[in-house]
Parts: sequence; structure tokens; C-alpha cells
Amino acid sequence: MTAQPTPRTPPRRTPRWTRSQATGIERTAETVLPVVYPPERRIDEERHLWDTWLLRNRDGSIADIDGYRVMCSLTAPADLLPGKRHDVATIRYFYSRDGLEWTCGGRLFDGDALGSRQWAGSALYDEGQVYGFYTAAGSRGEEELTYTQRLAVGYGGTIHTDGEGLTIEGPFEHETLLEPDGERYERENQSRGMLYTFRDPWFFEDSRTGETCLLFEANTPLLEPHGDARDRYEATPEELAFNGSVGLAVSPSGDPTDWHLENPILEGVGTNQELERPHIVVMDDRYYLFISSHEHTFAPGIEGYDALYGFVADSLRGDYEPLNGSGLVLTNPESAPFQTYSYLAYPHREELLVSSFFNYYDLRGLHLDDVAELPPAEQQARFGGTLAPTARLVVDGTNSRRRDVLAHGHLPLPGEALPRSLHSFVEHGGDDDGRDDHESTYRSR
Ligand code: FRU
Repeated sequence: MTAQPTPRTPPRRTPRWTRSQATGIERTAETVLPVVYPPERRIDEERHLWDTWLLRNRDGSIADIDGYRVMCSLTAPADLLPGKRHDVATIRYFYSRDGLEWTCGGRLFDGDALGSRQWAGSALYDEGQVYGFYTAAGSRGEEELTYTQRLAVGYGGTIHTDGEGLTIEGPFEHETLLEPDGERYERENQSRGMLYTFRDPWFFEDSRTGETCLLFEANTPLLEPHGDARDRYEATPEELAFNGSVGLAVSPSGDPTDWHLENPILEGVGTNQELERPHIVVMDDRYYLFISSHEHTFAPGIEGYDALYGFVADSLRGDYEPLNGSGLVLTNPESAPFQTYSYLAYPHREELLVSSFFNYYDLRGLHLDDVAELPPAEQQARFGGTLAPTARLVVDGTNSRRRDVLAHGHLPLPGEALPRSLHSFVEHGGDDDGRDDHESTYRSR
């Protein structure tokens, strides 16, 4: 008897955010945020703050450290031109008892972190230790800035509290966790696109399977952009240069310093170059994957916005379906298209709260790319540099709709009731561009 060949299961196709889905992106009353005005005080008057994340436990809940919650932010001196902030980004931590008033505790790491600067990440509190995951951008000590990105961790920090406040103390041990493999994840020297990415590690433990995961922002290498890839992604070579993905690494032992690369869980090849700060919220046994992306990183032929995009699946590896048909979940009004960015959703009772930072506002029709042409004082004056009002979001199956917003930088714990809105909020109310009837709510604080 001749042996039958073992049937081979075809390799799983990576879930995709397709061009045809993304061409449906459109502002609606359910997705447009209200206009944001500057708060009376910034969280830190001495510094610009942008990407921010909360210290969380292994199960994803927000860590409660003797009544304090802790957040980490990318920071840069407030007198620096906002556009230069990425070149000197340093992670600082802030703590709060009420989620409204934040105190800066200082730098998370003592100048010993990897990279010439540190970009976004996530923070885990496990068995009394702080694990600060971050992007090591460039190389430590380099004279000229380079843009290589690696996923890194600093671990071993401990937290101390007293009547005065909270401190995170080192020493931290730093390690590079992952670099792109050139096959599943593009290396810098393979990049044909506008920007290569391998960053924003997000710790996630899957409560349903027990799997310990790290999500991150990456790009898919297209080894033959003119052949196979063209048919596979139904996109032209120019469009294929936009090849963003959400990467996945797994730690079989659960050790937060030991990871193996797996295939991406979502690709935006031919659609978008940057699927930033990916994170997952599990609700009703479904996996909600969120990313941030920019108007200018969509491939030619697709009109998207600076926004929060979302996808839902029955398991971690998909298949993912875009929320609201196109993926658009929350965006800025047409009159202030760059006012908020870098969104992070976390569960609060039956809904989600979405934090972001207050980016460029009052641009009066100027595009983000034109900001650098403004006189320095104007650039400073139009940059928020602190947290934006936290948005409330209701997700129902494959649809979502925004609700009211909270004060700038207000990050309540699930046990805390949300404040009543100062103004009556009419669901689905307001104009399509979000310049609705309750603007003064967002002046609070
Ligand atoms: C999003 C982002 C992140 C990156 C950081 C660098 O705002 O592009 O992906 O880590 O900014 O400042």
C-alpha cells in the first residue's frame, strides 16, 4: 500500500484591513469627537506629554497601589518645539488617587534605558515588580539620531508609597526583547514605505486561553511587490508601499522577558502604513483590537483620518472584522482634524473609556505637515501637550458609538462612578463635524 500524503492544512491567511473596507471611512455622529479646548492647567506645565498608558496587572486590570493608580507618558521639555519631541522622548510616571489630579513621580528609568530615546509601550505590575515595556529607538549614546526600533523591557523596579506620594525605584535591568525577523516583520533596510515601524509593545494576557502575548506595531515585508503580493492584496506597487501590521509575540512560559515572534494578527497591506499602539479589550468573549492611525499614512486612494480604529474577532488571531464597516471608531471633527491622537481604550463597567493626548489645535485649515513652517511660538501655542478629554464609548457587537467625554486626563477606575455631564447629552446629537451644542463641557478643568 502506498502511503497517502498527509493532508496539509493551508497556512492561515493573516486577517486583513482591506482597501475596500477602508474606503468606507466617513465621519458620522457616532464617531466624531467634540472640539477640544485647552484645559486651565496641563498635567505637567514643565513638559509636553503625549502617548500615555496605565500600569496594569497581568489580567489587564488597572493596578491599585495603596489607593494610587499610575500612568506612564512620553515626555519632553515644554520649551522644546513639539515636532522635535520624538527625538528626545523620555518615559515619566505620574500617580493619582482620583484619576484627575496627577503628580509627576519622575523618570521611570534612570537614564540607563536602551535606545537614544524611548517611545511608547506598556507597563505591567506583577508579583511586586514593575515591567516597563518600551520601544528602544536608535542606539544609546549615538551622535546622530537613527531610527532603528526594537522592543525592549526594563524590569525589577519596585513601588513605594507613603503619606507624601508614590515612587518607582530601580535598579531596572534592561533587555532587548524582539527585533524584526525580515520575514514576518520588515527590517529597516527592507522598507520601501514612508516610515518603517517596529514599536509600541503592548502586554496582553488572554484570559480565555491563558496565553501571554505582546502586541506591537510593525510592517509586512513584501519580497515581491510586483508579483504575488499584487494579486494577494489587490493593490498596485505604489499602494503596497503602505504595509502596516499588528504584530504578535508569545511567551510560552508566561515570563514577561521571554518572547517568540508569531505571525501578525492583522495586516493593512495596501491600506495603511502605521497601525499604531495596538491593544485588545476582551468583552462578551470577543476580542476588540484597537489601533491609532493618521490621515497621511493611508495608501493613495483612501481618505482616512487621525483616529482610533477598531476590529473584532472571536479569538486572538482573528479573523477580524472592522467595527462600523470601515474600522473607524473615534475621530476628530473636520474643523479640528488633528486635535487628539494616540488612543487607548479600557473597560469601564458596560462601556469603554478612551484616553488620548491633546495634539495640534486651532490650525485653521493648516495641515499637520505645515505646522513646522509656522514660527516657533505659533507651533508651541497650537500644541496641546497634555492629555485630552477622556472619551466614553459604547461598543455593541460590530458597532460602536461615542458618548459624552470626561475632563482632560480623567482616568477613572471601573469601581468609580463617572461624573454626570455638565450638559445634557443627546445621544447621536450634534452636527456631523462634532461642533455640537455642548462645547463648554470640554473646557472643564
Ligand atoms: C504615536 C507614536 C508611537 C510612538 C511614539 C513616538 O503617537 O508614533 O507609535 O511610539 O509616537 O513618539
